[in-house]
Amino acid sequence: MCGIVGILGNHEVAPQLVEALKRLEYRGYDSAGIATVNDAGTLDRRRAVGKLVNLSDRLVHEPLTGRAGIGHTRWATHGPATEGNAHPHRHGPVAVVHNGIIENFRDLRADLAQAGITPQTDTDTETVALLTGHHMAQGMCPVEAARATLARLHGAFALAFLFDGDGDLMIAARKGSPLAVGHGEGEMFVGSDAIALAPFTDRITYLEDGDHAIITRAGVEIYDAQGRRANRDMVRIDVGATAIDKGGYRHFMAKEIAEQPAVLGDVLNHYVKNGRIVLPESVSFADVDRVLLVGCGTAHLAGHVAKYWFEQIAGLPCDIDIASEFRYREPPLSDRSWAIFVSQSGETADTLAALHYAQGKVAKTLGVVNVGTSAIARESDIALPTLAGIEVCVASSKAFTCQLAVLAVLALKAAADRGRIDAAALAAHLDDLRAIPGLLNQALAVADDCRALAGWLSEAQDVLYLGRGALYPVALEGALKLKELSYIHAEGYASGELKHGPIALIDRNVPVVVLAPRDTLFEKTVSNMQEVMARHGKVLLISDADGITEAGEGTRATLTMPMGGGAFQPILYAVPMQYLAYYTAVAKGTDVDQPRNLAKSVTVE
Ligand code: G6P
Repeated sequence: MCGIVGILGNHEVAPQLVEALKRLEYRGYDSAGIATVNDAGTLDRRRAVGKLVNLSDRLVHEPLTGRAGIGHTRWATHGPATEGNAHPHRHGPVAVVHNGIIENFRDLRADLAQAGITPQTDTDTETVALLTGHHMAQGMCPVEAARATLARLHGAFALAFLFDGDGDLMIAARKGSPLAVGHGEGEMFVGSDAIALAPFTDRITYLEDGDHAIITRAGVEIYDAQGRRANRDMVRIDVGATAIDKGGYRHFMAKEIAEQPAVLGDVLNHYVKNGRIVLPESVSFADVDRVLLVGCGTAHLAGHVAKYWFEQIAGLPCDIDIASEFRYREPPLSDRSWAIFVSQSGETADTLAALHYAQGKVAKTLGVVNVGTSAIARESDIALPTLAGIEVCVASSKAFTCQLAVLAVLALKAAADRGRIDAAALAAHLDDLRAIPGLLNQALAVADDCRALAGWLSEAQDVLYLGRGALYPVALEGALKLKELSYIHAEGYASGELKHGPIALIDRNVPVVVLAPRDTLFEKTVSNMQEVMARHGKVLLISDADGITEAGEGTRATLTMPMGGGAFQPILYAVPMQYLAYYTAVAKGTDVDQPRNLAKSVTVE
């Protein structure tokens, strides 16, 4: 978490830093700050608690000049969100911004105490500034001092250093956390991602793990973990694809939900052409004995849905795991298995660590990733892009359904490779999948009904979501979305599990959202719904027209979904989950795009 940026520019840098930080705010918004070196060589900083807009306000009244600067947007790990704990941290001539966690900061503090240096903040980051300033006080130049500090750091970091008295020097370093260097005309940039730098340059060099970079306006020298000069490729990014605007919607989330028919169409055009699945040649499941799907949050739930497809359609045993559990459980892995890592950002620390654990133990690693330049995309044996485009809202919507589409294609490929389905059955499944974008378009029509229901849901203390089969993980996703956006307690349950505990919660104040398309499991789910209604529970039934006709009576409300989609209906049922959470959050007046305490890219454990 946390976003960092640095600029050695030819213009006043404060507004540029704020512009870049705006693009990094998805990484955290507990506080923000910038430091600049002005034309007289003086280092100074401004910081403000809360969202970036508070820093912008402060800069109006207390401007900072200078053409060299660093900036930070914080997701608090060590110490509360106070101005004192906000980055940049400074000691003497050094200012530092940091993304990650310095795990040995207590040891470093103990060493510094021996030199009579006392921390002023609760943060791990401050020790980086203290140590570097201390090294300089002992006579080291900025580069030597920063190197001496880097050699002492354990943990994960992306760092940028700026120095009083030198407006043409910035030092950047990464280990574990991502960092991009941008090349301008007589200007240089660093940022947590290339999107932050897109307003300034399309020429990017990604630092590799362990690298540090000595940056001046004339260019960059990169050194690897062993201190050797390293050549890293410069790539051009598609700046057009980095446009970030709400497109007339009130919130990014509303825009991103509405984009789903189009982006799902793009995904399917990419992976299915002329009735054939198009995947890299090396994607063959013929000899695979087990598939493992790993991710966090919504990405994990995409894997949970896909488990049903891999097992039911492809007959391939499939395990799912939360990355933070998987990485430390030391699960034995078969060398005939494939491990698939699902991630929007491609930078989630636990998912990346899970990938590292699986490397060398499984036959192949696959990344199903939205950000194509991310660590998980680069480090997986095969990277499959989810092509959702930039997702700005912290809570995932279109990235989730695009993940589902890619995983559906993989499951069908597995079924075909393993001879579980013949050509006709494959064609029928592909027809169902190709129908999804059009059906999603129809599904968006539930928006008005969801808005009308939001008043009811927004008054609830608790909400239950029930589903069976592949709709069970969609129920989990519905509950997660509601929690994230509206701060209402919500739980998703497998319908059949209701009577083993959660039924005790049912009364007339607990809305129960039931996902029950008219499929082979319909009768079973409806029985569970009746058990809720018999106890005065208030049910919102989400089904297709046939299901509503058959079972809608006695419910508090119904949402009618389009028919069709076959096995891939879970993709459609994601839409009412998203809209219910969205409109409930709007009704409650919470911050839809940046819910409290959350961040979109979780680069700490
Ligand atoms: C955070 C986000 C979620 C996301 C999860 C995994 O918790 O708020 O929306 O599902 O991280 O992120 P990833 O980038 O790996 O998909």
